[in-house]
Amino acid sequence: MNIKLSFNDKNFSTREAVVFGVYTKNVDSKTKGKAKAKKKTELVFHHWPKEIIQAFNKVKTSKNFKGGQGESTEFNLPSGSTLVVLGLGDKEKFTSEILRRETAGIFKQYKRRSEELAFDLDTLMMHTMEQTVGICAEAIWLANYSFETHMSKKNENILKSVVFMSSQTKAKEKKIETLLKKSQVLCESINLARDWVNEPPNILNSEEYAKRIEQDAKKISGVKIKILGKEELKKENMGMFLSVNAGSAFKPQLVHLTYSPKKATKHIALVGKGLTFDTGGYCLKPSTSIANMKFDMAGSATVYAAFRTLVLNRVQVKITCVLGITDNAINSLATKPDSIVKARNGKTVEILNTDAEGRLLLGDCLDYVCDLKPDAVIDAATLTGACLVALGSEICGLMGNNQKLMDKLLSSSKACDEYMWQLPIIPEFHKDIKSPNADLKNIGSKGHGGTCKAAAFLESFVKKDIPWAHLDIAGVADSQSHLPYTPKHGASGLMVRTLVNYIENV
Ligand code: BES
Ligand code: MN
Ligand code: ZN
Repeated sequence: MNIKLSFNDKNFSTREAVVFGVYTKNVDSKTKGKAKAKKKTELVFHHWPKEIIQAFNKVKTSKNFKGGQGESTEFNLPSGSTLVVLGLGDKEKFTSEILRRETAGIFKQYKRRSEELAFDLDTLMMHTMEQTVGICAEAIWLANYSFETHMSKKNENILKSVVFMSSQTKAKEKKIETLLKKSQVLCESINLARDWVNEPPNILNSEEYAKRIEQDAKKISGVKIKILGKEELKKENMGMFLSVNAGSAFKPQLVHLTYSPKKATKHIALVGKGLTFDTGGYCLKPSTSIANMKFDMAGSATVYAAFRTLVLNRVQVKITCVLGITDNAINSLATKPDSIVKARNGKTVEILNTDAEGRLLLGDCLDYVCDLKPDAVIDAATLTGACLVALGSEICGLMGNNQKLMDKLLSSSKACDEYMWQLPIIPEFHKDIKSPNADLKNIGSKGHGGTCKAAAFLESFVKKDIPWAHLDIAGVADSQSHLPYTPKHGASGLMVRTLVNYIENV
């Protein structure tokens, strides 16, 4: 499905269906004789042509339309076009996220009803036309996703094309065209990540996953790919990574991607947890928690999608992307609790819980990327169930060793309307993961603060002078049923936009 721009165009009557946004405002209405003013809401027809307002006011049911968020109504123009009126609520309280959600919502309502859906951008205006187009396009492409790979009957969209109309000049349209293409690349990357996360574990094992990444990355010019298998990981002394893979029927795969544009002055490294399935290992997850653990590779899919977007959009930053891929399975060789392994950085680690596997694999990957001396390292991982307890499933946990880096990530997350909240790493958490039998143990002594202690563990493998931030996406990577631009069930694809925004502005 494509989105077409049609600027210098107010010819609504030739369109099949056109969406117009309408706001509300609070007014005081004084009634005769009564001293007290009554609060009333009125519709605000921002940038509506006079004749359309008149046509709308003639529709008898229009008097019942309040214009609140999520409210919509429609009427026909004499030409036979459907005019869809989309309520956006109080104009004073209008935000980019309201526009994103409302656009996604109305798009989903009409995608099985109409062949063409036009949006009158002038009536949906944010601060700038660029911002409006960016948000509306994103909302539509993200809302259009569904995971139907394994359905024998696919749902058919009746909708063939979306048109963004505006009265602004054709010259403006040219500029917006580039922005639209960039936004499409971003959404395609997010949807690819969603597809991979949703793919079941019997199909997407570590080798298959690495192959799919390689196939995709090969098509992008300027990307160097290196894949380390079991032998190479042994040579790298990645004892922690290998311990997670010990019980697996499939090879561990460390996918190392590099994009190094000539003009780059900054180098950012992204690291992702790619557990194609997490059984918990010998510390086996009970059946209620093991379900859906195919999504434990969302961190790797998230950072890959960000990497892919930035490279395709030719951002002038050197980017390293390292994905640690395996499953956490059980056979007679699988790591047993009480095992002690040696990490790549030389530290010894007592594995007291084989279900705290993400930090093991990530620890070695973090140490590996620190050797490349990047200006910053950011990892994303579905690392702890405790993150859902602390923040709920709607908020991404943020931790790290550098406040400046974390502040930048927080402002990127705000700019993209993705929820992120910083959690602390205190010296006591580092103390709590010291082992009497080895340098470290992979879980804390006391059960609480699991998200922060996992981050403290990761920090032990990051070189002190390298700014590092960790995103715990255990909650946000999965179904976000409150968001109309993410699918009801399955991978959300959240945090890709935040990472892209951070690197674009680094
Ligand atoms: N992949 C899980 C984290 C997870 C759990 C994400 C539930 C989303 C929902 C991770 O590998 C894990 O199992 N973590 C353990 C750590 C514990 C053993 C210290 C957890 O959170 O229970
Ligand atoms: Mn686990
Ligand atoms: Zn896991």
